[in-house]
Amino acid sequence: MDTLHVQILWQVMDQLRDANQLEEALSRCLDLFCRGTQSGKGSIWMLDEQSGRTIATNVYDTYDATGESAGRGEGLVGRVVESGTGERHKASDVQNMKLAGVDSPALSGKNLMCVPIKTPKHTVGCLLLTDKKSEYTEDEMTLCEQCCSLLALDIEDKGFTFRPFEDREPIVRVRGVMKEFMSGEEMRQILKGVDLDIYPGELVVVLGESGCGKSTLLNIIGGMDRMTKGEVLVEGKDMSSPTEEELTEYRRKYVGFIFQAYNLMPNLNAYENIEFIAEISEKAMDSMEALRLVGLEAKAESMPAALSGGQMQRISIARALVKSPKIILADEPTAALDYDTSIKVLSVIEKISKENKTTVLMVTHNPEIAKMANRVVRLRDGKISSIRVNLKPLKATDLVW
Ligand SMILES: Nc1ncnc2c1ncn2[C@@H]1O[C@H](COP(=O)(O)OP(=O)(O)OP(=O)(O)O)[C@@H](O)[C@H]1O
Ligand SMILES: [Mg+2]
Repeated sequence: MDTLHVQILWQVMDQLRDANQLEEALSRCLDLFCRGTQSGKGSIWMLDEQSGRTIATNVYDTYDATGESAGRGEGLVGRVVESGTGERHKASDVQNMKLAGVDSPALSGKNLMCVPIKTPKHTVGCLLLTDKKSEYTEDEMTLCEQCCSLLALDIEDKGFTFRPFEDREPIVRVRGVMKEFMSGEEMRQILKGVDLDIYPGELVVVLGESGCGKSTLLNIIGGMDRMTKGEVLVEGKDMSSPTEEELTEYRRKYVGFIFQAYNLMPNLNAYENIEFIAEISEKAMDSMEALRLVGLEAKAESMPAALSGGQMQRISIARALVKSPKIILADEPTAALDYDTSIKVLSVIEKISKENKTTVLMVTHNPEIAKMANRVVRLRDGKISSIRVNLKPLKATDLVW
């Protein structure tokens, strides 16, 4: 071991001794690792045992990837955490490498090194370094591995715990969901194994290109479409292959749908459109109360044709809300609306989520809308490519596009 190597090891130990919190220990070490290896960028990723995802907790970069995460064995980060073995890659090899489930094209074409943070018994996370002008050497890898082992032992010693995802039971648990459609002669796989947990009271946004399967996933979760294979559990109850009765009960009690097209009954006024659903629901709230929640009490007697697009969408939100569902599923609720009206509608969705604590799963292709979510799920080619935790969700009124 050369002198520099020993010095860095000592510095890491010093930093760890003084740190009282995991967050602080990690960011001090990350700094040292980046400087010690002349890496322009770096990140530390920690494994959340419960969800099985490894999440970026500390970032040394111009792009804040904090909250990005990778599933077991997915991409570089997922692989290193799963196998407990470090990897070094040359810039020329990183052109097409799928990273971490990290949606960061910025990393392709860069030298990379990723080493596990592990004790002799378990791997707790990994360190990812990049943006070094020359290739990472074997020595640097050994150094980082040793420092990361110290870090892991310290984490274990101090009993630091890492819980980015909720400790509660998920309200919806999606496992290995697949969906096939016949397309002409050929069977097309639209969903290729989706795993997702949704926790009570959170606002989750699903982002993805047109045709990637967002609506299909939402419809399966909402009991509007059947999957080809997989499991959906709602509050622990298996809804994978429900009977017609179970399905009706589920749609009636559990879920409220908001669609891009408002689907209001043209011959009923705003109040009646809501009341009609309230009447067939068990735990309905007062229809006027639902109208008040969306700020449209004054329009109770208006017919849909006399309402603007945004008002119709708010009525359709009130209609989804009136049955006091546990989960609201919204498919591109603002796609047909202009910016100002979209913000009004999104503010209502924010209110449902924050004040009523209703769980919301919202599909959109607008990345700006994702900034108001607690978590952002990216769907690509029928699979989840990343899940990001927004540590500070934006208010709907602060969104700009
Ligand atoms: N009933 C169906 N029969 C055959 N193919 C279907 C059916 N429903 C959806 N698909 C196909 O599945 C793919 C995914 O559709 P889906 O509606 O889930 O995409 P999406 O991500 O919601 O797209 P968009 O952003 O355009 O709404 C598309 O290629 C679509 O053509
Ligand atoms: Mg869609």
